[in-house]
Amino acid sequence: MKPLILLTGGLWYIGSHTCVTLEQSGFKTILLDNLSNSSLSSLDGIERILGYRPVFYDADIRDRGAVASILKSNDFSGVIHFAGLKSVGESVNEPFEYYNNNIQGSFVFFEEMERAGIRNIVFSSSATVYSADNTLPLIEEAELGTTNAYATSKLTLEFVLRNLVAAKKWNAIALRYFNPIWAHPSGYIGERPNGVPNNLLPYILDVAIGKRDKVWVYGDDYDTVDGTGVRDYIDVNDLAEAHLAAIHKVLTWDTQSFHAINIGTGNGTSVLEMIENVRLASKKDIPYTILSRRPGDLASVYADSSCARELLWWEAKRSVQQAVEDSWRFVCNNI
Ligand code: NAD
Ligand code: WQD
Repeated sequence: MKPLILLTGGLWYIGSHTCVTLEQSGFKTILLDNLSNSSLSSLDGIERILGYRPVFYDADIRDRGAVASILKSNDFSGVIHFAGLKSVGESVNEPFEYYNNNIQGSFVFFEEMERAGIRNIVFSSSATVYSADNTLPLIEEAELGTTNAYATSKLTLEFVLRNLVAAKKWNAIALRYFNPIWAHPSGYIGERPNGVPNNLLPYILDVAIGKRDKVWVYGDDYDTVDGTGVRDYIDVNDLAEAHLAAIHKVLTWDTQSFHAINIGTGNGTSVLEMIENVRLASKKDIPYTILSRRPGDLASVYADSSCARELLWWEAKRSVQQAVEDSWRFVCNNI
């Protein structure tokens, strides 16, 4: 009997890739999503890859009745909790929307998990839980500190899960993602940001397909290889494999525990290097203009990923260039 895993927020970017990976690796999945930042088109993409559609519930994690019914009517072995709003900038302007959706919503969901006797969870955390005053590469024991509602929601839920492990014998892993980038090699699923992309790679790709005129580079006076911001870009397919390793670990642990684990490549790529990667993949000219720094940005952020290797026997396999090539294919398939 294949273990059944519920993927909350599983319909869109990281969840859809994780769904495919789990289904292809001996698990069954069910997706729960309120479609606040996604559409059913993702199910079409998943079906084109798998040859069938996983069960999908159009539901909100804040809807106690719906959540209770879903948890009681399926024999779930565990949960991967993706559901949440994810824009740092938006959370600065709309903190209460993030507190309500991400924190209050997760409280309702966790309580119904406990009532249903489901105590195995992998949680989508983020590198934004680290304070700005750390040395690099970032280790899991680095100083934690948040300056926006989004990051605060992630750190709060990590502490709540620690408490549930101690008090209610849950098993939990929080995966602290760095910068996920596109897309499934088939080109059928990937990130489709609504409106103007917040993140770097989708914006560069929009320039490559002619949807936008140029890339605005936020600062070239940082202490980095070429003065532009450096980040740890993790291919979403590697990220999906990390969730497979984490849910397997959580289900096979014989003692209750909580672990927060960095999921990154351990390497940094600058903005100008990313622009060059897209130029090589697309064979298109990518115009850009240097602007002043974006408020709140750090010069460099990249992971020490040794804990993922030791605990999950996972490490990133795919290069940034391979990820960019898949992203370009996805964009060309979905113009
Ligand atoms: P996404 O927006 O593509 O997917 C999140 C999904 O959750 C969406 O389909 C949305 O409709 C759903 N959702 C939101 N609120 C919900 C609610 N109340 N009830 C049910 N469904 C709800 O985001 P993603 O990039 O796939 O990220 C998944 C998770 O990983 C998020 O929690 C995000 O904060 C986290 N994360 C993302 C990144 C990144 O750069 N993409 C980095 C670190 C952490
Ligand atoms: C990357 C680099 C920018 C856009 C964000 C969230 C974080 C996480 C991952 C959820 C920086 C530069 C960007 C542009 C640019 N998501 N840039 N021009 O800010 O590292 O992290 O996504 O957890 O929470 O904050 O990613 O892609 O916005 O920026 O020059 O048009 O690209 O200054 O150096 P970031 P990003």
